Amino acid sequence: MSIVDTIKNAGQAAVQGAMAKLVPLAPDSWIPGGVPDPLIRQQHGVIGTSVSRLDGTFKVQGTARFAAEFAIPGMTYAALAYSTIARGRITAIATQAAEAAPGVVLVMTHLNAPRMNAPAVFGSSPTAVGPSDLPIMQDDRVHWNGQPIALVLAETQEQADHAVSLLVTTYAEELSITSFAAAKAEGPKPGLFMGQPLVNEIGDADAMLEAAPHRVDHVYRTPWHNHNAIEPHAATIVWEDDRLILHDASQMVAAQAQTIADVFDLKTDQVRLTSPYVGGGFGGKGLWDHQILGAAAARLAGRAVRITLSREGVYRIVGGRSLTEQRVAIGADADGRFKALLHTGVAAMTPHNNMPEPFILGTRAGYAADSIRLSVETVKMNMLANTFMRAPGESVGTFALESAIDELAVALDMDPIALRLRNEPDKDPTSGLPFSSRHIIEAWRTGAERFGWAGRSNVPGTRREGEWLVGMGCATGTYPYYRMPGAVARITLGADGHALVEVSAHEMGMGTSTTTAMVAADRLGLPLDHVSVAYGDTLIPGAIMAGGSQQTAAIGAAVIAAHNALVADLLKLAGNDSPLAGLSAKDVGSEDGGLASLEDPTRRESYVSILARAQRDAVMVTEAGSPPLELMHWSMHSHSAIFCEVRVNAVTGETRVARVLGSFDCGRILNPKTARSQFRGGIIMGLGMALMEETQFDERKGRIMNPSLAEYHVPVHLDVPEIDVIWTDIPDPHTPMGAHGIGEIGITGVAAAVANAVYNATGKRVRDLPLTLDKLLD
Ligand code: MOS
Repeated sequence: MSIVDTIKNAGQAAVQGAMAKLVPLAPDSWIPGGVPDPLIRQQHGVIGTSVSRLDGTFKVQGTARFAAEFAIPGMTYAALAYSTIARGRITAIATQAAEAAPGVVLVMTHLNAPRMNAPAVFGSSPTAVGPSDLPIMQDDRVHWNGQPIALVLAETQEQADHAVSLLVTTYAEELSITSFAAAKAEGPKPGLFMGQPLVNEIGDADAMLEAAPHRVDHVYRTPWHNHNAIEPHAATIVWEDDRLILHDASQMVAAQAQTIADVFDLKTDQVRLTSPYVGGGFGGKGLWDHQILGAAAARLAGRAVRITLSREGVYRIVGGRSLTEQRVAIGADADGRFKALLHTGVAAMTPHNNMPEPFILGTRAGYAADSIRLSVETVKMNMLANTFMRAPGESVGTFALESAIDELAVALDMDPIALRLRNEPDKDPTSGLPFSSRHIIEAWRTGAERFGWAGRSNVPGTRREGEWLVGMGCATGTYPYYRMPGAVARITLGADGHALVEVSAHEMGMGTSTTTAMVAADRLGLPLDHVSVAYGDTLIPGAIMAGGSQQTAAIGAAVIAAHNALVADLLKLAGNDSPLAGLSAKDVGSEDGGLASLEDPTRRESYVSILARAQRDAVMVTEAGSPPLELMHWSMHSHSAIFCEVRVNAVTGETRVARVLGSFDCGRILNPKTARSQFRGGIIMGLGMALMEETQFDERKGRIMNPSLAEYHVPVHLDVPEIDVIWTDIPDPHTPMGAHGIGEIGITGVAAAVANAVYNATGKRVRDLPLTLDKLLD
């Protein structure tokens, strides 16, 4: 196949898109002193238009291949056995019956598993993504109730599942800590998040709280939450000699491959990890025991392995959010100005894990206050390693903070929006940095108007329709803008004027591949159907993580850098016979499938013509995005104003969410269609967090008691009302493309908005998620 055909056939399907207007090269305009990027100052081209997912057709037709859908000749199927004690030693595993069961190829336990290094725990280096640094199936030790203790490979999944049920394990149990109360009694320790202390102190907050004429001071609790992506974790794994190939469901292909390479003492290029489609990832689609165990079993058996976790399996080995207990105390003057803001508390984690739920992150940049004290301390429990879960920190932190602000508004008899606006900071209150772009007031104003906030009664329990008490609540959400280093883009421009853009990124259903094509089409001055995107494969250079809502910014910076390099190369190829002769990269822009002079757009030449004259099939550039220096100069965040109307049944205590409006300020919105869907998805997850989601631990044994969607409740269609979404669409001049992340802001603040609406409806304040009806009836 010629390179031209390769480009056309690679990646995604084509859709019709608008032609981009003349696009000058983007200097790294978001860096201080950089030249402003005209592209982010105006709406133009395909950016900002609603484009349907380019991969939608493949998904609807069933041709999009997910991790558990790769078929390899001679493949075996894996099933895992999980420990039933929280801590201790395995004294024996009787494997004979399993080994003799039909179709069984291998029974692997710590006694015959290959020797492997322990994975490095995340945060310990840029490429380490182990959820814990425990060795995996290397000894007889049990560290949590649910730890994989044996793996069975068989010719079919059913045979493997059956054989695993025949294993008989005996243990010597040891003392364990499986209740939050017992863990707290051991004494909390300071929390560290990504190596940084989770502490902020400005002024004497305790004294100023004491002296404030008005104050609220309460404790808020959030439960353990488990990840419930629609696609359970899965991987199809094969060794080709000493190369390990994993088709995985991953939101971090490069970092994960590196960690796996380290586990098996392989070089980086001996591990190939692909992840073309992911059926939902919210922080949980990373490296867990199953990929490593699957690879170990594949090596031991000399067969390819497909390992698919059951829903219960996901609960046993994939962590989620951990327990938090947060105190928020606010002291205010009679006008509602914050004299003191305290947000402190405890989060549970496990002894071998590195992920305290950093619930103060959103508070750091939330409100102006004369004095501030924030801290997260941690306690250890012998349970499943916790991890990132959609807006880790902010999701649960804003429940406490934004509930407390509502409580203060009640105490002051103020409108809760007015109270928030009164404490709007003019710079970051903890870092002192200027905000790059913060239009939260605009989000509040437009949101309140659209939602009909003026119709709300400030007196709780006063609006009743039959059995139903009706109330409105609101909350602010913030989520930081991040851009991690390491992103690289490779652009291959073919002789027919089609381009292939390759980034080591991830499509988890949010529309990244579509947005990447749009950004590239925009930069290159190509119609969308001339751009293909490839991603989700470690053969593609660079390291991008779909996490921290930063993937699009990382991709954008890399695509911009690669486009700049491409233009320079094209000018060289164009040479002296081109109408562009003598022009340098800064004098030209991409437009209409070619380059044109900025000064005199009649001086132009198409890509096709440049490559034809140079007798080239293609030109390829690989370029890294600039270092994320913008983060050192500005305090950068996505913002939201969430409005909610609930109806609480006065007889049964049942809460129904009647209406939600999310009013967002997230810079420029690149693709309204996929953005709206992202915001809505986050809000729906927030409704689950508010009303239903709760992992239940048996505190005697540390076993999760509700490891299924029958018993762990998430919102179903009938639980979700009309969700209205609007945004300011004000570009941030200091980010690539003017955009902020939109992945995690959606959930942030939602639980508080619901709780505040429930208070407004009933006069009952629930400080303990989820807001189940028993808590409203007592
Ligand atoms: Mo997210 S919790 O960074 O996938």
